[in-house]
Amino acid sequence: MTTSPDSLTRSKITVRTIREMKGQHVRIVSVTAYDYPTARLADEAGVDLILVGDSLGMVVLGYESTIPVTLSEMAHHLKAVLRAQPRALVVADLPFLSFQTSPEDAVRNSGRLMKRGAEAVKLEGGKRMLPQIEAILAADIPVLGHLGLTPQSVHQFGGYRVQGRDRAGADALRSDAIALERAGCFAVVLEGVPLEVGREITAALKIPTIGIGAGMHCDGQVLVLHDLIGLSFGKAARFVRRYAEAGDTIRNAISAFREDVRAGRYPSEEESYAAAPERPETKPCGS
Ligand code: KIV
Repeated sequence: MTTSPDSLTRSKITVRTIREMKGQHVRIVSVTAYDYPTARLADEAGVDLILVGDSLGMVVLGYESTIPVTLSEMAHHLKAVLRAQPRALVVADLPFLSFQTSPEDAVRNSGRLMKRGAEAVKLEGGKRMLPQIEAILAADIPVLGHLGLTPQSVHQFGGYRVQGRDRAGADALRSDAIALERAGCFAVVLEGVPLEVGREITAALKIPTIGIGAGMHCDGQVLVLHDLIGLSFGKAARFVRRYAEAGDTIRNAISAFREDVRAGRYPSEEESYAAAPERPETKPCGS
């Protein structure tokens, strides 16, 4: 039986659905979400995969990078997302130093996120992280790989720099991607790599690639929701397309509220409660 794109997206989306989408030539759509309303809206918009990314540290907690994000912060935001009961697959990020330290830490911390309701975990790194990835998979926890400009390595890279620009770098990334596929990852995020590298790795893998700044040849695309809706600050990366200016909308709404309050235009009588109407007198029985 062949599966149509519609039937792929109508029922609960699982890691299996995501894997099958590559063969069905249906592009995977993913955004980040960090709380109940954004998870609800993303799910209602029909995304396939909601990523509770550690980017939450930068876009909702105001950190300079993703490095300070803790497992408790991830778990807190994950629980809020899950209260929206998304149909989309919910993947939670393993934050910095929750998995690099040992395979045991990687399994224990992935387990903490799974026990709270995550349906898979994502972790950054290639072959060097294979012992961790294999241990997590051995505990039957699905893993989404993440290669390229992996933000937890920002200091090692010397900044947010596109990776794999030369032949050696591109080959290393392809070889990492193949190793992640062989280990059993259900998909791989490719971040900040030239579109040719995105194309090459996508062609080399049976599992889907989900790109962010990795060109149009990937099997799917993911964006940080706050970038997509214009609710992030500072200069946007080249690959970000802003589909809304939510920052302007929110600022204008709050500013209009401020003006109405100052001018005594808010609240109106209709927006105010009246005192309870006086009780009609009850006549004594028989009178
Ligand atoms: O943390 C995150 O949001 C991510 C995506 C940008 C892929 O890892």
